[in-house]
Amino acid sequence: MNFANIYKNSIEQPQAFWDGEAKLIDWQQPYSKVLDYSKPPFTQWFIGGKTNLCHNAVDRWVATQGDKAALIAISTETGTEKIYSFKKLQAEVSRMAAIMQTLGVGKGDRVLIYMPMIAEAAFAMLACARIGAIHSVVFGGFAAHSLATRIEDAQPKLIVSADAGSRGGKPIPYKPLLDEAITLSAHKPGKVLLVNRNLAPMNLVEGRDVDYAALRAQHLDSQVPVTWLESNEPSYILYTSGTTGKPKGVQRDVGGYAVALASSMRHIFCGNPGETYFATSDIGWVVGHSYIVYGPLIAGMATIMYEGLPTMPDAGIWWSIVEKYRVTRMFSAPTAVRVLKKQPQEFMQKYDLSSLKTLYLAGEPLDETTSAWISDALGVPIIDNYWQTETGWPILSVAKGLEDMPTKLGSPGVPIPGFNVKLFNETTGEECGANEKGVVMIEGPLPPGCMQTVYGDDARYVSTYWSVLNGKHVYSTFDWGIRDAEGYYFILGRTDDVINVAGHRLGTREIEESISSHANVSEVAVVGVEDKLKGQVAVAFVILKNPAAANTAQAQQALEKEIMGVVDRQLGAVARPARVYFIAQLPKTRSGKLLRRSIQAICEGRDPGDMSSIEDPTSLNQIEGALSS
Ligand code: PRX
Repeated sequence: MNFANIYKNSIEQPQAFWDGEAKLIDWQQPYSKVLDYSKPPFTQWFIGGKTNLCHNAVDRWVATQGDKAALIAISTETGTEKIYSFKKLQAEVSRMAAIMQTLGVGKGDRVLIYMPMIAEAAFAMLACARIGAIHSVVFGGFAAHSLATRIEDAQPKLIVSADAGSRGGKPIPYKPLLDEAITLSAHKPGKVLLVNRNLAPMNLVEGRDVDYAALRAQHLDSQVPVTWLESNEPSYILYTSGTTGKPKGVQRDVGGYAVALASSMRHIFCGNPGETYFATSDIGWVVGHSYIVYGPLIAGMATIMYEGLPTMPDAGIWWSIVEKYRVTRMFSAPTAVRVLKKQPQEFMQKYDLSSLKTLYLAGEPLDETTSAWISDALGVPIIDNYWQTETGWPILSVAKGLEDMPTKLGSPGVPIPGFNVKLFNETTGEECGANEKGVVMIEGPLPPGCMQTVYGDDARYVSTYWSVLNGKHVYSTFDWGIRDAEGYYFILGRTDDVINVAGHRLGTREIEESISSHANVSEVAVVGVEDKLKGQVAVAFVILKNPAAANTAQAQQALEKEIMGVVDRQLGAVARPARVYFIAQLPKTRSGKLLRRSIQAICEGRDPGDMSSIEDPTSLNQIEGALSS
C-alpha cells in the first residue's frame, strides 16, 4: 500500500488501522475495544487493555538485548559519560521505584520532577511509569514562581530534584529555587528526593528532604514489579503555555501513548532495535518525553541524554557523539542549527558521520536557508516535523518508513496517519481549499497518544481546544497554515498569544503577569518579535506608575535590567524579554482590547493592519518612537 492509501485507511477505518499498530507494543491483557468516541471530544483508545510504558521501554528488551546500550548519559558540563544497558537501566529504575514506594508513592500519585539532564531524571520518569505514579516534569530553566504554579496544580506527593544543573561550566543551583517554590505554593509535597551532584551547597529540610544516594544504597537489590495499567489511565502531566497566565496540564494516557510512539518511531523516525537515537532537546519539554525517554527505548534503541551546550568544548561536540555512538537518527531544533551555522564548519568535517541517516527538526518554523545549510554540511536529508505538547507526536511530516515521499523546503510535510488535519477560515468557519490560509485544525477523534484532557479540568480542555464545525468536533492547534495543491502544509505562526523563543513555548500573558509584579509597573504588553537566531524573542512595552523613574537614558537602562531580573527570578531566564521599552500609552481598541498584533507588526517593520477600531492612533507612534530611541 502506498502512503495515500495508508493515510486514507487510518482516517476512514481508525479501528482497523490502530488495531494493527497496537501490535508494535506488549499488552499484558488485550483490549476489548480499539476506540470509544461516544462522548466527543473525549477519546479513549484500547479500552480494557493493560500495559505499562516502563515495561515496553525497558523490561521488554532485557530478554533479547539486555546487555546492549539503552541510556547513554553524557555531560560535557561535568565531564562524565555513563552507559546503561537495558539490564542496568532496569536495575536503576527498579531501585528508584523502590525508593518512591518507601516514600509513600503509589498508583495515581503525582511526582514532580525538577531536574537537569542527568540519568537519574530518566530513572525517575521510568520509575513513575513502572508503579503507575503520574510524573510531571518541570523544565529546569523555570524559576520559583513557574515551579510553584505547577506544584499547586499537580499537588505532588513527592518532588525529585537535584542540588544543581550546570551551564557553560557554571553551576545553576536548583535547590534554593525549589525551596522558594514550595514556600510560595499552597500545596506542600510530603517528601523531596535530592540527587546531590556536589555542584552547589544544599541545605536539607528535616523530615522532608531525603538523599537519593543513601536511599539507593538501601535498595540496591530491590526488584519492583511493573504495575499493569488500563490503557486510559494517566501516565503523565506536562504543563504548557497558552493564552492565559495559568499553564495547562496536558494529561496523557498509557496504552495510546505507547502505541503512538512505537508507530512514529517506525514510520517517521525509522529506528531499529540496537541503533542509537540522539535528541538534543530537554526532558522538560515534550520532545524530551517522547523522543529522548520513551520513544527510542520503546523502539529498542539506545538513547542519548546530553547535558551541555552545542558549542562546548567546541562546536564539534554533537558530531563527535554521533561518530562515537554510531547515531543513526538525530532530532534537534532549527535554533540549535542556526547557532551551529555561526561556527566554523570544520567542526563537522572532522568526524565520521557515515552512521547518520537523517536529521529531524521540529519545534519552530524551519527556514529554507537553515535547512539547506545543515543538509549540505552533514550530507544527510533533513526532515521537518510539526506537532505540539498536546499531540505528543508529529501531526505533519513525511513518513519515509511508509513511502519515500519527497520533502518540500519550508513545509513540515503532510498529515501523518491518524491525524485528520483540516484548515478552516477563521471568520466564516468554512473549510479552506488549496492555497487558502486558515487555522490548522484536527477533526476528532484525535489519534492515540494525544492529550486526554487538561489535568483536573475537563471543561477547560473542551472550551480551550474544541469547537463544533459542520456538525463535527474539531481541535484547534492555534496555528495558521496553508496547504498547497499536492497536500503539503506550511505553518504560518500562532493565532494566539503564544510565542516561540528558540523552540521554547512561552505565553506572553505569563511574562506580562510577572512584569506587572514590579512595584513601578502600571501596564505592560509583551509581544513576540522575529529574531534571526531564536526565531522569536519577547519584547515588553511598559507604562510606569512613576514615569520620572525613567527620565534619563541611564535610569531607563537600570530599570530595564531590574524588570528583566524580576522575570529571571520568577519565571526563569528562558522567559526574559530581549528588550523592555517605556512608553506612556499602549495601543488599544475602543473597547480596551490590547492591539498586540499591531504592536508586533510595528516591531517587525510591517504594516499594523486595519486600525479602524483603535482608540488613539498616536499610541502607535509611541511604539515606533520607543523602538527608534
Ligand atoms: O506553533 C507551532 C510550533 O510550536 C508549537 C508547539 O510547541 P510545543 O508545544 O512546545 O511542541 C513542540 C513539539 C515539537 C506549535 O503549535 N511548531 C512546532 N513544530 C513546528 C512548529 N512550527 C513550525 N514548524 C514546525 N515544524
